[in-house]
Amino acid sequence: LHLAFGSGKSGVTYATAYADGGLLEFHKSYFVPHRQWYTTPGQEDLPARSPGRRFEPALARKCILCHAVTMPEDRLALEKRFLGVGCESCHGAGSAHIAAAEEGRASKVLIVGLKGARGTQMQETCGKCHRTAATIDPSDTGALKQTQRFQPYGLSLSRCFKESQDRLTCTTCHDPHHDAVTDPKHYEKVCRDCHSSAVGKKACPVNPKEKCVSCHMPQRQVFEGTNLPTRMADHYIRIFKKAEARQ
Ligand code: HEC
Ligand code: HEC
Ligand code: HEC
Ligand code: HEC
Ligand code: HEC
Ligand code: HEC
Repeated sequence: LHLAFGSGKSGVTYATAYADGGLLEFHKSYFVPHRQWYTTPGQEDLPARSPGRRFEPALARKCILCHAVTMPEDRLALEKRFLGVGCESCHGAGSAHIAAAEEGRASKVLIVGLKGARGTQMQETCGKCHRTAATIDPSDTGALKQTQRFQPYGLSLSRCFKESQDRLTCTTCHDPHHDAVTDPKHYEKVCRDCHSSAVGKKACPVNPKEKCVSCHMPQRQVFEGTNLPTRMADHYIRIFKKAEARQ
């Protein structure tokens, strides 16, 4: 075992790195909240006793580069400090920034500053890994339906995003330097900032005060058609039919 993917919040997938730059993704993944092993998503077609799926080097690199800060050009050997998402995953390479600071050229920041970034720029920054409409293969109709799995893509389809003059972004609801808040009240406040008669908007005819997220951003099953229990909040904010929200 060389690598474990995932923070452990939902699933952890294990892999072996080959000398040729390929990767063996193990057939079973551990789902921490459920304390159970499940078939790794995407391996449903393999026989039960298969060791897993082998990825060719190009694909293996892609997989790692969304789950690590950087890696060497020619092999899968990762330095420990680059495992997982880090500062440079969002802010870009920092070497020029550090050199400038050491030479006392403090006026040159030379790093991707994200403060005040608007909807479209944030879509690019986060969508590199979380996926936008542009990074989902349009012939993959399965993926196009997964608005609950690919948040930038999901959010971009909502009227909230489209009709807010680029003001609605990931950081309207999330602090990128901390884990996602799990108290729904935090998000309801954000909804009410835009949806209330106080800002000249029609409030919700069903519940103008609270519980917005459970009705308009419900937690939906991520890997449809499997027994995997993972659910994520659907970022395509909309009016759901009751049956749809339960899926
Ligand atoms: C385009 C970027 C991208 C690629 C390529 C990618 N992932 Fe991910 N992966 C993500 C993002 C973003 C998340 C977090 C959102 C989610 O859970 O879907 C994630 C989540 C996961 C999780 C669950 C994480 C947790 O904390 O519970 C595992 C396990 C995982 N990926 C494994 C893999 C493996 C193995 C590969 C290669 C076969 C791979 N990923 C390829 C972006 C990517
Ligand atoms: C380099 C790829 C990458 C980029 C860029 C990225 N993420 Fe993620 N993000 C991930 C992965 C992978 C996970 C799943 C946790 C893990 O496996 O480490 C994740 C998890 C999250 C979570 C869930 C954390 C939790 O507590 O459950 C949130 C929220 C999130 N990302 C928001 C963002 C936002 C907002 C941006 C842009 C400002 C962003 N991410 C940019 C890869 C990325
Ligand atoms: C998931 C993406 C992500 C990661 C990882 C991340 N940041 Fe940020 N960072 C942002 C975003 C987005 C903002 C703008 C937040 C806002 O608008 O309030 C920001 C703002 C900042 C700022 C304020 C100046 C500016 O650029 O706007 C500093 C300084 C900063 N981050 C440093 C760090 C450091 C140091 C790390 C690593 C320990 C880190 N960040 C990791 C996304 C990220
Ligand atoms: C930056 C402002 C903004 C935020 C924040 C926001 N919305 Fe919206 N939302 C809009 C706009 C603009 C529309 C278009 C209709 C209108 O003008 O009222 C809209 C439309 C909607 C609709 C109607 C969707 C449809 O397809 O007809 C729902 C439901 C909704 N929002 C719920 C929410 C919920 C729930 C939240 C919080 C999770 C939220 N919104 C956060 C701006 C916002
Ligand atoms: C209107 C508020 C809102 C906006 C805007 C928003 N999110 Fe979220 N996000 C949520 C809520 C609510 C949750 C569920 C939190 C919970 O209870 O665990 C969530 C959870 C997540 C998670 C963890 C997966 C899950 O559902 O547990 C990721 C990853 C994430 N958001 C990424 C993003 C990214 C990337 C963007 C920008 C494209 C974004 N979010 C914009 C409200 C928002
Ligand atoms: C019990 C589920 C439920 C809750 C809780 C709820 N809504 Fe709704 N909401 C709905 C339904 C259903 C509709 C469609 C009503 C209709 O068309 O008659 C709707 C409609 C809307 C609309 C469109 C209004 C219009 O006239 O176009 C907005 C915006 C909205 N809700 C925002 C919110 C916000 C913000 C919250 C939290 C403060 C919230 N909702 C709480 C179920 C809910």
